[in-house]
Amino acid sequence: MALIDVQSLEKTYRSGLFRRTAVEAVKGISFTVTDGTVAGFLGPNGSGKTTTLKMLLGLIAPTGGSAFLFGERVPAVKARARVGFLPENPYVYPYLTPRELVVMHGRLSGLSGRVLDRRTDEVLESTGVLYAADRQARSLSKGMLQRASLAAALVAEPELLILDEPMSGLDPVGRKDVRDIMLAQRALGRTIFFSTHILNDVESLCDEVVILRSGKVVEAGKLRELLGGDIIRTDISLAKVSEALFETLRNNGHDPIARMGVTSLRVAGERAVREVLAEALAAGADVVEVVPHRETLEDIFMRRAH
Ligand SMILES: Nc1ncnc2c1ncn2[C@@H]1O[C@H](COP(=O)(O)OP(=O)(O)OP(=O)(O)O)[C@@H](O)[C@H]1O
Ligand SMILES: [Mg+2]
Repeated sequence: MALIDVQSLEKTYRSGLFRRTAVEAVKGISFTVTDGTVAGFLGPNGSGKTTTLKMLLGLIAPTGGSAFLFGERVPAVKARARVGFLPENPYVYPYLTPRELVVMHGRLSGLSGRVLDRRTDEVLESTGVLYAADRQARSLSKGMLQRASLAAALVAEPELLILDEPMSGLDPVGRKDVRDIMLAQRALGRTIFFSTHILNDVESLCDEVVILRSGKVVEAGKLRELLGGDIIRTDISLAKVSEALFETLRNNGHDPIARMGVTSLRVAGERAVREVLAEALAAGADVVEVVPHRETLEDIFMRRAH
């Protein structure tokens, strides 16, 4: 089942005198996020990720198309209770403590009494803010506030998590903590849709990706299928390369680099690999290493999103 179903969704912001200034932030996008998957939402700054997430949460109204959460059209008031949301720049009232923030979110989701107390301690612990649970937000760092807000999103054990840049503002330890929390949520069968600029996190966490560019979807699907494409380049390392062979490789446009007795070159295509290896072996060189590379997520991102 698709927990998130977005169909030709559009958002044009209007501002200025007579609302004449228009920004087309989202230009008719469609994608789905199915039950039990972790999906990454990628795209350069200003490509429309936050706008899309806000429409899903019912915080702003679409100007075209439609979106569904758990099958309910947005603003999906009933389905919203089953969603944990971490906003892009979480605002926490400065005099509120992380514990009060989490309790408040728990109450809004219908928790109370001992269950609420237990869940509050659990999520403050798992997000690493328990030690600062009773300090006012105004005295906490950006990373601590980010963790407290994540705790608030998790308190009611939502089936679907929508997180807008959950790793932003966190140090390497904090990022690993958040990754671990997301992996634990995935192991519980929860569905996660999160935006990020950190491609490594997508590669290590996601089953699926949606890539936006200027308000349009340029790539969407299973990460494994996207990354399982053809070999796009091969790195070859040779030893005992004679000057004549080096010249031949250079004249054939392979840009060989010699360092500490090893000559390295990068070639594209299977035919070029065969040619280089045949030449090298005929000239008496040793083949040290042949490493084929498939397209990485970064390659795909650079090719599609820029
Ligand atoms: N309230 C608003 N009024 C007018 N334009 C807006 C508003 N919010 C966003 N925009 C514009 O909409 C476009 C998409 O912005 P959005 O915040 O959705 O991008 P994003 O993909 O989340 O970017 P980032 O990676 O920087 O967070 C941008 O051109 C932005 O300037
Ligand atoms: Mg954003």
